[in-house]
Amino acid sequence: MATIDQRATAATRARYDRLARFYDLMERGAERRFGPWRAALWRRVRGPRVLEVGVGTGKNMAYYLRGMAIVAVDLSPRMLERARTRAAREGVAVDLREADVQALPFPDASFDTVVATFVFCSVPDPVLGLRELRRVLVPGGQLLLLEHVLSRRLLLRRLMHLANPLVVRISGANINRETVDNVRRAGFVDLSVEDLWLDIVKLIQAKVPA
Ligand SMILES: C[S@@+](CC[C@H](N)C(=O)[O-])C[C@H]1O[C@@H](n2cnc3c(N)ncnc32)[C@H](O)[C@@H]1O
Repeated sequence: MATIDQRATAATRARYDRLARFYDLMERGAERRFGPWRAALWRRVRGPRVLEVGVGTGKNMAYYLRGMAIVAVDLSPRMLERARTRAAREGVAVDLREADVQALPFPDASFDTVVATFVFCSVPDPVLGLRELRRVLVPGGQLLLLEHVLSRRLLLRRLMHLANPLVVRISGANINRETVDNVRRAGFVDLSVEDLWLDIVKLIQAKVPA
């Protein structure tokens, strides 16, 4: 059984705790482009029980669907604090909790859909996290991800590998993750992958075997 890299996980938590104050400002420009992608993802959500992992400051809350019971978790208490403020300000009904996607505090088969947007670039062991999502989903349940991944274009691929250590230091995100392969490795099936920007930003939909 895989074990959690506690040191890397603590470093990720500390990094997002530090970034929390600036996160919305840093992402303001990009969010104009991300908004329609988030909307496209949430149109595919099927409830009633929905889990969002890596909720961050709560940028998806504007797209939450009425009538669904949404639980949202994050590793970073400071990011979560911002999400709580946003939920209160915007009157969003959501159960916010501090939790690590690599070891979720939910029984097996608790949710119909799990959503994560721009999260698996920073989870220390993404396959371990994705396996946890498979565990907490019902058989036939769906996973919806919005993620940036490593390009297949040779030159770009090399550049992304080269730039990765610096990008991680600045933003906490790895730009060289192979998330589509990781979703398969975690045991999901029926993958549908849509390229949203080049072959880098993708909307990934997958299912737990029924
Ligand atoms: C780039 S931010 C994305 C936030 C939000 N999903 C969005 O779309 O704006 C990544 C988030 O994932 C969270 N995260 C990273 N590793 C995590 C883990 N192991 N478990 C839960 N959340 C994690 C970080 O704390 C951070 O809030």
